[in-house]
Amino acid sequence: MAMENLLSREFLRVVEEAAIAAARTMGQGDRHGADRVAVEAMRSAMDSLPMRGTVVIGEGERDEAPMLYIGEKVGRNQTDDIEVDIAVDPLEGTNLCATGSPNAIAVLAASNHGGLLHAPDCYMDKIVVGPAAKGAVHLDAPVAENLKAIAARLQRSVKDLVVIVLDRPRHEQLVEDIRRAGARIRLISDGDLSAGISAAVRRTNVHAVMGIGGAPEGVLTAAALRCLNGGMQARLVPTKEGQEERMKAMGISDPKRIYTERDLAPGPDIIFAASGVTDGNLLRGVRFFGHGFRTNSLVMALRDRMIRFVDTVRLDGAPDVVVEF
Ligand code: FBP
Repeated sequence: MAMENLLSREFLRVVEEAAIAAARTMGQGDRHGADRVAVEAMRSAMDSLPMRGTVVIGEGERDEAPMLYIGEKVGRNQTDDIEVDIAVDPLEGTNLCATGSPNAIAVLAASNHGGLLHAPDCYMDKIVVGPAAKGAVHLDAPVAENLKAIAARLQRSVKDLVVIVLDRPRHEQLVEDIRRAGARIRLISDGDLSAGISAAVRRTNVHAVMGIGGAPEGVLTAAALRCLNGGMQARLVPTKEGQEERMKAMGISDPKRIYTERDLAPGPDIIFAASGVTDGNLLRGVRFFGHGFRTNSLVMALRDRMIRFVDTVRLDGAPDVVVEF
């Protein structure tokens, strides 16, 4: 459809710009500054795009986010431009970037109007698996049962599985249950979105992601999973005052509902783009080499069934610059 043809190249550029801006701040210990430059870069890269975009997943509500807030209009906004809903995480893993740790990425997903769940900025309980184990897990099933089901689909034993879990006190019981079931665990400090993408890609040695992380990251994960045929179950977890009311205002009538990847990202057309900020499992971080820079990105379009790993080199004009393989 037009949206995918029109915009997937442009969205690649948007996440590249955000990744480059954030990567310049790598290791500076300033997570808010890193996020701010990524937001600014993403915002200005989107300004000239031929679309009437509305941010449905963004940096937060209007009063707490000066840019890319939920409801903000982005794009060129001419009457005959295509209408799209946009979900962004300009810097997923602000701490990872601030400390120069692996797996910080810049992310954007787009869909037809209504094609991405409008979720408040609360938590979400998630279980993410790859295509082989899609449909085999249930969010409310005992952990051991889910792990057995994943192992069976992958034709291996539970002890051969690797599960990624955010290293948080709230996951003490979950970690104990996974250990007792015998699976291996990778505890991560941040970044359950890039972890979720890895779970849907073979040979990353990630077989599942479990536990509670951000709801915005959950919707973006679902958009990626739709393109990668991965599976997900999730439930919103409001923890702060006012979040349940906000959910209702956003059209969520059953706060306990379990969502699949298709419920979270139902759009018939989905574009997902991510660019590496720091080196990671799936994407390399931005490299600067004096006369230019190199970015590594992933761009996917659901209807086209297209997955592109893109290695972009941009040169700064010097005529004798050498490009390396
Ligand atoms: P930021 O990029 O906003 O710093 O979020 C990183 C992250 O680790 C997400 O990947 C994850 O979903 C969420 O934060 C977890 O939230 P919390 O740090 O509150 O446990």
